[in-house]
Amino acid sequence: MVPAVTAILFIGDVVGRAGRRVVRDLLPGLRDELGLGFVVANGENAAGGIGITPKEADELFGAGVDVITLGNHTYRHREVWPYLDEQPHILRPANFLPTQPGHGTTVVERDGRSLGVVNLSGNLYMQAGSPALVTIDDALREVADAGHVLVDMHAEATSEKVALGWYLDGRVTAVVGTHTHVPTADARVLPGGTAYITDVGMTGARGGVIGVRREQSIAVMRTHMPMRYDSSDEDPWINAVLVRASPQPRRAESIEQILRAAPPT
Ligand SMILES: [Fe+2]
Ligand SMILES: [Fe+2]
Repeated sequence: MVPAVTAILFIGDVVGRAGRRVVRDLLPGLRDELGLGFVVANGENAAGGIGITPKEADELFGAGVDVITLGNHTYRHREVWPYLDEQPHILRPANFLPTQPGHGTTVVERDGRSLGVVNLSGNLYMQAGSPALVTIDDALREVADAGHVLVDMHAEATSEKVALGWYLDGRVTAVVGTHTHVPTADARVLPGGTAYITDVGMTGARGGVIGVRREQSIAVMRTHMPMRYDSSDEDPWINAVLVRASPQPRRAESIEQILRAAPPT
């Protein structure tokens, strides 16, 4: 029997090999434990800490991710550009320019249920072609048929994410923030029924500095000299949120953080 409530897991920025391993190792168990209906992951740091290639995207899809969202590192690797046009379930922010490869919305269906996903980029300290809070109205028309809708707002500024949450309250199932790699403590269902969190955090090595090996990051901050950055492998965790979508379209019953260490290797 299909459960009345649809469980949606959203996984925060997957960083490097450590992050991909956490997803591979933890997702099958979480699927059983939480009764997951849909899984969405931000993959903008999946390839060596910056960007993504078709190889890492296919690895995440193979691990059980239904939709991959991206952000400011979308175009770092040239080989992903045509893939972004060809693969319907990987998204770049909808408010990028029309001249940039890829698309910003998709709908996935399973067991008679449908989830629309929209990816947006913030405008403060980020390069995006149009204002997120304007583009979102067009993007929602593209997923008009979906029973539930999740929006990944990839942004530096907390103000833009909070504003989007209020703007969409009662119109979508969930608004989740990504990009800072640090989870915030404000997960809640807004009065209109939209689940909201300012930042989901990062799925990767907690022993680094937002994913980078900490000695390299500290050295750059202490010397102001350029240095190579590598992804940390130390102490990998998953940072995610579980949204329980209600039987009523585009409303959430709850949102809770899923913050767990990867099993020892
Ligand atoms: Fe980012
Ligand atoms: Fe990121």
